[in-house]
Amino acid sequence: MSQPFKINKTPVDPEVVKRKLEESGIKDPGTASIREIVRLVNQIEYATGVKFIRMEIGEPGIPPPTIGIDAEIEALKKGVGAVYPNIEGLKILKEEASRFFKLFLNIDISPKGCIPTVGSLMGGMLCFLVANRNDRTKEGTLFLDPGFPVQKQQVRMLGHDYHSFDVYNYRGKKLRDKLESCLSGGKISSILFSNPNNPSWICFTEEELSIIGELCDKHDVIVIEDLAYFGMDFRKDYTVPGEPPYQPSVAHYTKDYVILLSSSKIFSYAGQRIGLMAISDHLFNRRYPDLLRYYSSDSFGQALIYGALYALSAGVTHSAQYGLAALLKAVNDGTYRYREDVKEYGEKAAIMKEIFLKNGFRLVYDRDLDEPLADGFYFTISYPGMSSGELIRELLCYGISAISLIITGSERTEGLRACVSRIKREQFPDLIERLEKFSKDHPVNN
Ligand SMILES: Cc1ncc(COP(=O)(O)O)c(C=O)c1O
Repeated sequence: MSQPFKINKTPVDPEVVKRKLEESGIKDPGTASIREIVRLVNQIEYATGVKFIRMEIGEPGIPPPTIGIDAEIEALKKGVGAVYPNIEGLKILKEEASRFFKLFLNIDISPKGCIPTVGSLMGGMLCFLVANRNDRTKEGTLFLDPGFPVQKQQVRMLGHDYHSFDVYNYRGKKLRDKLESCLSGGKISSILFSNPNNPSWICFTEEELSIIGELCDKHDVIVIEDLAYFGMDFRKDYTVPGEPPYQPSVAHYTKDYVILLSSSKIFSYAGQRIGLMAISDHLFNRRYPDLLRYYSSDSFGQALIYGALYALSAGVTHSAQYGLAALLKAVNDGTYRYREDVKEYGEKAAIMKEIFLKNGFRLVYDRDLDEPLADGFYFTISYPGMSSGELIRELLCYGISAISLIITGSERTEGLRACVSRIKREQFPDLIERLEKFSKDHPVNN
């Protein structure tokens, strides 16, 4: 039913879209990476002067809090720029991180297991480098998809195998049998999921987390819990220090886990490329003789820090560690409530979903078990009769950009991920106008 490049007077000249797509080398926008779409849209914006509704990248749309900036400036003025940071991380950062996990997840992790990383992306890489090499008989990671595509790229770069399934079809109790069938072969070293989930924004329940934890203990699998959107299930307030409800975590249900905490979204700190990994005390101290194939120590924690992290970057930018330490301290002390800043994302998502639905779009992932999905950083859309590649291509002609769900491991090949963070409320009238035109130009035959 789609009518590519035929319609007159779209906000963006279809000929330019066509030419820029050809020049970019992107054969099918449905399989293009996030950064490829970013580059393409930059070029179309530049060539046409049309400002896009940019929903393709999960970049924060809020300025970083001054608490972090001030702490970084002060540290730089004191000269930390000339000094190699401790690879294990600044003492104050490790202590505030350990406190954070106690206050907001109600779990005990020693400061020694709280390690700064260059974005939580590097935390994932470090996990794969160690967790997927601890047993020569195993193959790699199981991803609970849909997910963040770059993590699969990391596993591929390392030459590890991976498995995945679309978890939307196995929610609640159904997860047990599915996971059992994946893990019982004994080939999975680690399992990775994000919660809330990028891109679907489903949130695992305590029951699901307990199933994951129990089965990972049973099959000796290391759990990597990616909390890039910590506390951003806005249906609950997980951000009052030391008070329930706490952010749900698999940490309550398994011994061997790593939590990845990103500062990019909760503190709008994406540019500083600093995140944290928290390794459970049990895992930190565990010994795996097969690690000696790659590292000089068979201890998980030692191999990760003095083997993998040392070789990758020898630690994390000194001043950024001071910034993050100050932010965590303020959150732990209750003097900074980051939720007040980031809840804007949820409010915008509610409005934007309505605009899309009014114009003939559908939500792809629309339920969170028996509840409607929460409003957060992302939502997912499709348009009747179009594949994701066609839809991206068509929307580009209307000055709207997003990525395909195909690259996230989703089974919903018709869907797109829409990220709300960079859209300003002032752009809503443009969004409405463009989508009204889009739906008029693409009538749906029911
Ligand atoms: C699920 C998930 N994990 C990890 C990351 C990477 O975060 P960072 O900027 O901390 O490297 C992202 C970024 O979008 C993400 O969505």
